[in-house]
Formats: sequence, structure tokens, C-alpha cells
Amino acid sequence: MSKRSENRLADIQDLEPSLEEFRTSVVDGLSSPQKTLPCKFLYDERGSQIFDDICDLPEYYPTRTERRILERHARDIATLAGPQPRLIEFGSGAGTKVRLLLRALDRPAAYLPVEISREYMIAAAEDLAESFPELRIAPVCADYTEPFTLPELPDIDHGTTMGFFPGSTIGNFTRAEAVDFLSVTRNLMGPGAIMIVGVDLVKDLDVLRAAYNDAAGVTAAFNLNLLRRINRELGGTFDLSTFRHDARWNAELERIEMHLVSLREQEVAVGTLRFNFQEGETIHTESSHKYRLDGFGELAREAGYEPVEVWTDDKQLFSVHALRTL
Ligand code: AVJ
Repeated sequence: MSKRSENRLADIQDLEPSLEEFRTSVVDGLSSPQKTLPCKFLYDERGSQIFDDICDLPEYYPTRTERRILERHARDIATLAGPQPRLIEFGSGAGTKVRLLLRALDRPAAYLPVEISREYMIAAAEDLAESFPELRIAPVCADYTEPFTLPELPDIDHGTTMGFFPGSTIGNFTRAEAVDFLSVTRNLMGPGAIMIVGVDLVKDLDVLRAAYNDAAGVTAAFNLNLLRRINRELGGTFDLSTFRHDARWNAELERIEMHLVSLREQEVAVGTLRFNFQEGETIHTESSHKYRLDGFGELAREAGYEPVEVWTDDKQLFSVHALRTL
């Protein structure tokens, strides 16, 4: 850690999931009739880097569309936040989008990035500390799909608490899980807080499918990296050349599903355990739910929020919602 940022990063709260949790999830997931792996494990250091590459793909519209919406409405968001807000970002990743907000906000008092990938989070927080020398940064390494607490910053006076959950990461949850997540964050932030959520929209299926089946194969590499991680961390014997990435539209649940398809009948070991695959059998690795504007507003109400504003791009590809906790 560089000298300069050392002073500015408050102590890091570390709740990174353990190897044991990874092992348990993998064993449970590969033992179920539809094999499945939790998508949060896609984001090891390498996975997070590949995800950054996905964001730059010509087919992957969400990142650049959301950025444009945020650029256009940063001042509106700052107005909702008021002076000296405390900003909490869920799943902060590379921390590029939050710069837009931090630049627009009126003297932000503290920034609390919550991120599962510890190394990645620290690097991003250090970069941010260089750009915003006055800002108090208190990184939290946690799995925000599980309950966690925020670090106490008793010496910091702040105004409105603003939650930031960009990137349509909320789409990884089922609808019921999204309601749970928003309820938990509502309790965490307290009443009168503002939540800014990026939400991807239902759209032309060709556009959607292309975004998750890119021509350069970057999304495939992202998906397959999960098997590599199992091999490395859990003593797995996956042969990556015998699995193929596939992204499918589930019309009933209005979501894109990423799968890894076994190209042949085979047996794979994870440590001392063995799992059988039929030819064509899949591991479901991620779901990316798409919403309609009113549908998401309804979901937010169920979680105890009042929808305040919603912004979209000209083509209605993506939306950014401002919600207030009740
Ligand atoms: C980070 C969950 C928003 O669902 O679009 C991108 C992840 N997976 N390409 C998404 C992802 C494949 C992404 N989220």
C-alpha cells in the first residue's frame, strides 16, 4: 500500500468468503439435479479483470449506457443527496462509476465501498484515495448477499446516506432475492436514505443474446474461469476444453442465464468427491434478470422504498432508479 493512501484508508473490515464456503457451495451446487454454481464466485482476481474487459465489448451495452445516464444526471443525483452525504457502494468493483458521483456530490463526507474481492477492492480504494485526497474511505470486504454491518466512523459528520448499486448487479438476484437485498440495505442505511440502482431493461432478444455471447469470446472466458478457480482452489479436475459457454434467454423469468455445457459424458473430481456429467448437461452459473420500468418500481415498494426518479437512455436500454427509504 502506498504511503499516501495508507493514512486515508480506514481499517479494512474483512468478511471475504472463506475457502470452506466456496467448497460447500461448489459441492452443494454440483450435487443438485440442475447443477449450479453461485455467480459471486466468478469474481476472483482474474474473473474481475475479465469482467472489466466484458464492460468494454461492443456488444455489452449496459456499462457504457449506464455511464452516460449517470453523466447526464449526476447533478440531479447530487441534489437528492444534499450536502456532505455518506456514500455506500455495493459491489464496488473497479470503482470507475463512483468517480462520476463523487465529483458531482457536494463535499462527500465518506465513501464505503463494499466488495467481495478483497485485493481488487483495496487496489480500487487506493486509486480513489489518490484522486480524492479529502475523502474518508472505509472499505468493507463483505459478501453483500449476506447480512453485514458497516464500520463505525464516529469522527465523521455526514448528511444523507446514499446507497449506490450500479451495473444491474441487482439482476443477479431473483426477484424475491432482490426484494430481500433492498430490505436489508434499507435497514442498514436507515430511513430517509437515497438508493441509486442501475437496472437493465427487457429489450430485443438479439441485442440481449449478443451481449452475453460476444464474438470475441470474452464472456465465455469469464464463465469458464469459474472451473479454473475450482481446479486451483479446491483441487478440481475440470478439463476446460470439454465445456462450452452458453447464454440463454429464459422467457418466463425474463432473464439471461449463463451455463457451462458439458461437451461429453464425463466424471470430474473436486477434491475427494466425484461428479458425473451427461453430454449436453449444464452447470447454471449466473442469471441476469431484466426488468420493465414499472415492474422495478413495484419491486422497490415491496422492499420499503418510495421510487423518486427514474432515468433512461434514448433507446430505453438501461435505467437508473432513485429510491428513498421509508
Ligand atoms: C455484473 C451481473 C451486471 O449480468 O450483465 C456480464 C455480469 N455476466 N456478462 C450482467 C455479466 C456476463 C453482469 N452483472
